[in-house]
Amino acid sequence: MLSFTHATDGSRMPVPSARGPLTDALSAVLLGDHASTPDELPLLATLAKSAIHEAAAHGPEALVGDDDVQLALTMLYELHYRGLHGVDDRWEWHTGLLAVRLCLEQALEAALRALVDDDAGTSAADVVATLHELTEPARKPGLASYLARRAELEQFRELLVVRSVYHLKEADPHTWAIPRLAGAVKAAMVEIQTDEYGGGRPEWVHAALFAQSMRALGLDDSYGAYVDLVPATSLAVVNAMSLFGLTRRLRGAVVGHLAAFEMTSTLPNKRYAQGLRRLDAPDEAIAYFDEHVEADAVHEQIAAHDLAGGLVRDEPTLAGDVLLGARVALALDTLVSDAMVAAWKSGRSALRSTTGGARRRVATA
Ligand SMILES: [Fe+2]
Ligand SMILES: [Fe+2]
Repeated sequence: MLSFTHATDGSRMPVPSARGPLTDALSAVLLGDHASTPDELPLLATLAKSAIHEAAAHGPEALVGDDDVQLALTMLYELHYRGLHGVDDRWEWHTGLLAVRLCLEQALEAALRALVDDDAGTSAADVVATLHELTEPARKPGLASYLARRAELEQFRELLVVRSVYHLKEADPHTWAIPRLAGAVKAAMVEIQTDEYGGGRPEWVHAALFAQSMRALGLDDSYGAYVDLVPATSLAVVNAMSLFGLTRRLRGAVVGHLAAFEMTSTLPNKRYAQGLRRLDAPDEAIAYFDEHVEADAVHEQIAAHDLAGGLVRDEPTLAGDVLLGARVALALDTLVSDAMVAAWKSGRSALRSTTGGARRRVATA
């Protein structure tokens, strides 16, 4: 059984275990006294630069897969979501930490742009058609097929553990974009997000449905409980969303990201539900996936035409960024999905090992 050294209050993420010198120093700063500058604060910028330099030397995939870089960004972004357990909320707008975050964000943005084709010359008129081409179902069997046909319940648990860093705050990163949009485009984004947040019914909030699935499969649904087990590339998935959502300059990218998410959701979720039914999982575990088959059939239309199409009609110069966001969503999903399937096919866990030990089972709550 895995144990977690940090207490959690159920609503804040526990301070994760350090994954290198940068996150070690960052944890010390965050847990230190906000009023008297902790000794490690001046070191953080230097440690961030050297972590970026080392990772980036091996290419963009290495940077998005770098534990120390991605965890540091996750911790810094979390200050803007629910906060970290035991960490003073005043760190959220501390200029020293914002400077470190900016340095890490610049490296992440450069890596994401390098990871995908540059669409700088895309015309606004081509954006919706290109989104449809990019999001066509893949011909080769991937993660969703594996889960539908071959996965054991333990592998579904691993899927939920990995995805919990996003889905327990599902929709929140894209919501940052709402005040940065206007008119019909804003209305389209709000229409999608309203469903994500349950349309006024707390039990239908997608994050709550996801938490219900976790509980139904015997997992701990407290926020951030499994962050130490989540590989860096899956942290990068959420960091990319937070970067796009929190940066007004990249509002095209957050719209394209959401469009790609919605346009590639229905079929995989249908397959996840099939896999869980094959394994006789309880209905409470499956409701989240069924809900996405239904909701995202509608969301994908709004996202492609009213949201992404509407934005490039209003602001044609954002066409390239819309496709950047979509391509980043798809590229990161492929990296994460391929790594999970490769691990399972070779009999390994897809979770990050925190002790370097052999395959272990997920601790059930
Ligand atoms: Fe959702
Ligand atoms: Fe959706």
